Amino acid sequence: MAARRVVVTGLGIVSPLGVGIQHSWQNLLAGKSGIRSLVSEFPGMGYESLPSQIAGIVPRTGGIAGGGFDASEWLEAGDSKRMATFTQYAMCAARQALNDAEWAAPSDEQRERTGVCFGTGIGSLDDITANYAQFQAGGLRKVSPMFVPRILCNMAAGNISIRYGFYGPNHAVSTACTTGAHAIGDAMRFIRFGDADVMLAGAAEAPLQPLSLAGFSRIKALALGFNDRPEAASRPFDKDRAGFVIGEGAAALVLEELEHAKQRGAHIYAEVRGYGLSGDGFHITAPPADGAGAQRAMRRALQTAQISLADVAYVNAHATSTPLGDEVENCAIKSVFASNTRHDTLAVSSTKSATGHLLGAAGAVEAVFSVLAVAHDVAPPTLNLDTIDTSAGFDLNYVPHTAQERTINAALTNSFGFGGTNAALVFSKLECK
Ligand SMILES: *[C@@H]1O[C@H](CO)[C@@H](O)[C@H](O)[C@H]1NC(C)=O
Repeated sequence: MAARRVVVTGLGIVSPLGVGIQHSWQNLLAGKSGIRSLVSEFPGMGYESLPSQIAGIVPRTGGIAGGGFDASEWLEAGDSKRMATFTQYAMCAARQALNDAEWAAPSDEQRERTGVCFGTGIGSLDDITANYAQFQAGGLRKVSPMFVPRILCNMAAGNISIRYGFYGPNHAVSTACTTGAHAIGDAMRFIRFGDADVMLAGAAEAPLQPLSLAGFSRIKALALGFNDRPEAASRPFDKDRAGFVIGEGAAALVLEELEHAKQRGAHIYAEVRGYGLSGDGFHITAPPADGAGAQRAMRRALQTAQISLADVAYVNAHATSTPLGDEVENCAIKSVFASNTRHDTLAVSSTKSATGHLLGAAGAVEAVFSVLAVAHDVAPPTLNLDTIDTSAGFDLNYVPHTAQERTINAALTNSFGFGGTNAALVFSKLECK
């Protein structure tokens, strides 16, 4: 029996660039930034006293038409009380993706063949801190009965399956900033292995909370010195990059077995072609200097994709805008693509320059952007790349400032997480040999 192939038939997104594929993708290609001041957006919340006061913030105004997140448009009455913010974003992205795929699994048999693989890196820190404060002040009776269900990291996956009655595999990945990529890769495996024909895969993160900003400040990971010009703060590959900018949001993809998609006449964006995983086995936050772990993940993804290196015309880098991380990933990309790093063939960009770093959701958001890059033959830009850091070995085409139209038969996207966990995904055009 021939191996089962897996394709993408639906997309959904909640990002700092907007709610909905159209808003996020158009704003991304137009070079807009979703990074704003937390102090102006959420005054009096306690961000004023922190060194980093900026984030990739999901727009709250404008509703569906304007690309803003309004829970009442996406959730049943009462659900916003029962669901933590990360789950609300997940529900919104999932609904978009399922609508886009036109997949409702009407029969019980189809429901059994449809599963969910949806993760989060942190879960709901918000509910933990709020309930702890209430517990301290008023004891047991002040702890919400929704506290436990709201904080569980698999609750987005649970809520999606309850809402749509999906009875297939129900799984939640939590591997820090690699979560989204792992969720999609694992979901692809469930389909290939025969556990399901359709998987709703993705990840959500809602980390905008003074305590998490404080925590990331304490490990000196965040970009400092940009509070008065937020949109300039995330500058991967640039000489003045100074750390990452935290962000929030979610993305969802409908993955489907190829024949299943063809039989029902579904629109196919791209094939999920390759998936590679690795561990650094080195340090909790720093990668080894040669990016050996990143290289292993990329090589493995390319190997499982069985694709020619020359077809991979775009790399959506993990590049979070930290001095060391960007440099090491660049070194790893150059080593893996050594025979294909000519400026006219390979484009490498970091869309975190526009969205910030969505932690657990980053891999899912960037998978969506990579799928769209393949579907529309355009490499999205790296914003703020004013002075390419050439002395640190950055000598590829990083798509500075403006999107580049080019044939993209396949795209690779990287995700790396604390703990030293790496994943790479390869998406290709269906007809790409
Ligand atoms: C979502 O999960 C919460 C528990 O966290 C539950 O109370 C609620 O009924 C669920 N809603 C849906 C639509 O699944």
